[in-house]
Amino acid sequence: MKIAIGCDHAGVDYKLVIIEHLNKNGIETEDFGTYDKQSCHYPIYAKKVTDSVVSGDADFGILVCGTGIGMSIAANKVKGIRAAHVTDCFSAEATRQHNNANVLCLGQRIIGEGLALKIVDIFIETEFLGGRHQERLDLFDK
Ligand code: RB5
Repeated sequence: MKIAIGCDHAGVDYKLVIIEHLNKNGIETEDFGTYDKQSCHYPIYAKKVTDSVVSGDADFGILVCGTGIGMSIAANKVKGIRAAHVTDCFSAEATRQHNNANVLCLGQRIIGEGLALKIVDIFIETEFLGGRHQERLDLFDK
């Protein structure tokens, strides 16, 4: 499994912690920046990560900003992306099972580091349930 990951200046710390966590568990990551805490524009990094997911190079994307909200708005502008802004474990599981979310958006100013890592684990380990949920997703293209 390969994860494309990106952040803005407000998400750099969590991005690095998540990369370390994933790599330690044998999961490949590609870091699309930003790489420091100088103020920047989150849609730039959302685009880089979502391009990687849409192209099939990455299985999932993870985007971190201050709230996770700006990243999710930006990511969901991209066709083929189903980005979920997640702040709890139940939603992390449900958005994979029901929405087949392919991008996880987290807010470094919103949730603790331990919860962020737990959400990441649940998100990447949970399978889409298909069936009636796929029928609903099909409506996005109609
Ligand atoms: C940056 O200050 C902040 O606006 C950004 O990280 C994010 O929270 C936007 O949604």
